[in-house]
Amino acid sequence: MDRLKDKVAIVTGAANGIGRAIAERFASEGAWVLVVDIEEETGCQVVDGIESSGGRAAFARSDVSKREDVRHAVELAAAQTGRIDVLCNNAAYLMPDFHGALDSTDEEWRRCIDVALMGTHYFTQAVLPYMIAQKAGSIINVVSIQAMEGMMTSAAYTATKAALLGYTMSVCYDYGLDNVRINSLCPGPIQTRIAEGPDDPHYQWQCDQTTLGRVGYPEEVAWAALFLASDEASYVTGATLPVDGGWTASSARKWTQKE
Ligand SMILES: NC(=O)c1ccc[n+]([C@@H]2O[C@H](COP(=O)([O-])OP(=O)(O)OC[C@H]3O[C@@H](n4cnc5c(N)ncnc54)[C@H](O)[C@@H]3O)[C@@H](O)[C@H]2O)c1
Repeated sequence: MDRLKDKVAIVTGAANGIGRAIAERFASEGAWVLVVDIEEETGCQVVDGIESSGGRAAFARSDVSKREDVRHAVELAAAQTGRIDVLCNNAAYLMPDFHGALDSTDEEWRRCIDVALMGTHYFTQAVLPYMIAQKAGSIINVVSIQAMEGMMTSAAYTATKAALLGYTMSVCYDYGLDNVRINSLCPGPIQTRIAEGPDDPHYQWQCDQTTLGRVGYPEEVAWAALFLASDEASYVTGATLPVDGGWTASSARKWTQKE
């Protein structure tokens, strides 16, 4: 219950899905959490839920792709204790239908890059001075297994997520001696509002790609984020951690399929 006791954490895209589960988990482990999102009503509901469970949180309506919004959000978090201990860059531009290289529009590319990549950069750049001064900090980038092994008809999204793996490793080099840790968390198929439900044929296909034979849930990603955020991960940086039910363990998957 106290794995993030008195730490100050920021979670972007925290009004729904994976970000919401991470914000709730961080708060239940003792952190003060800034819930960042463009959806104000649902974001405030997340804060209300955390507070009614005895946790501490606040909401910032902030578009991660806007530097000014990001600066305001980070100032709000820093006003708590003067520290920023944890940043989870989770927000991404998600549309119902991404496209292959041939059909993808400039707008699709721009939104993917602006939100997931530049949003991650803006927040990271804004919290680094605090973390460097503290000689401690944990940054968690929510990426995707698509960055690790690709996926059909999603050139802009997949390329953006792959860029985040490179960004994570570069920041890892530059600020390791300041004891700033940064890691990539790669979810597999997780049941959020963007995911297909059990009635969709794609749902069963996703289950079949995993060695556990099922999709995952936001809370299962949140447990992994908690580990990376906590002092238990004090020697873990620059890592890519799949939370995917075995999807990327392809040799194991092939072995399973032979059965
Ligand atoms: N669900 C999955 O299967 C899955 C798999 C791999 C990776 N991911 C990644 O997990 C993360 C969360 O996805 P999810 O499934 O929970 O989606 P979701 O739609 O439930 O949540 C995303 C949240 O981000 C917010 N957001 C979008 N644009 C924003 C912006 N410009 N500024 C601030 N907030 C913004 C949305 O309002 C929303 O609350 C994303 O980075 C996604 O790429 C999800």
